[in-house]
Amino acid sequence: MPLITFDALDMTIDCPEGETVFAAARRQSVPIPTACVGRGTCGLCRVKILAGEANLPPVSEVEKRHLGNTYFITKLRLSCQLKVMGDVTLGIPDAPRGAKLLPLGVGSAKLPGPGGRSPK
Ligand code: FES
Repeated sequence: MPLITFDALDMTIDCPEGETVFAAARRQSVPIPTACVGRGTCGLCRVKILAGEANLPPVSEVEKRHLGNTYFITKLRLSCQLKVMGDVTLGIPDAPRGAKLLPLGVGSAKLPGPGGRSPK
């Protein structure tokens, strides 16, 4: 099972292969900013790729719309678009200062299911 390391938080979490960074992070209370809860519309869930770039999919059109075409400079991606295929190390540039883990019950909105449908 791939591992996601959040460098600034000094934290590593499990992520089933094919799950998004965003979904794995939410499940384990990692503070990734969001307004759309993983639907790819807010552009807030940015992470910086520090290692493991080859274990992530190519930059998507959704990401280009929100972040421009500057990945080769910024190394920023949208965590909700990143299906993990192997170990990666990430930064969270937009995390609140001093953020660690969310308290239980915060951000408990349900994630969209496959195909973007809301879970029942
Ligand atoms: S969570 Fe809104 S774009 Fe990723």
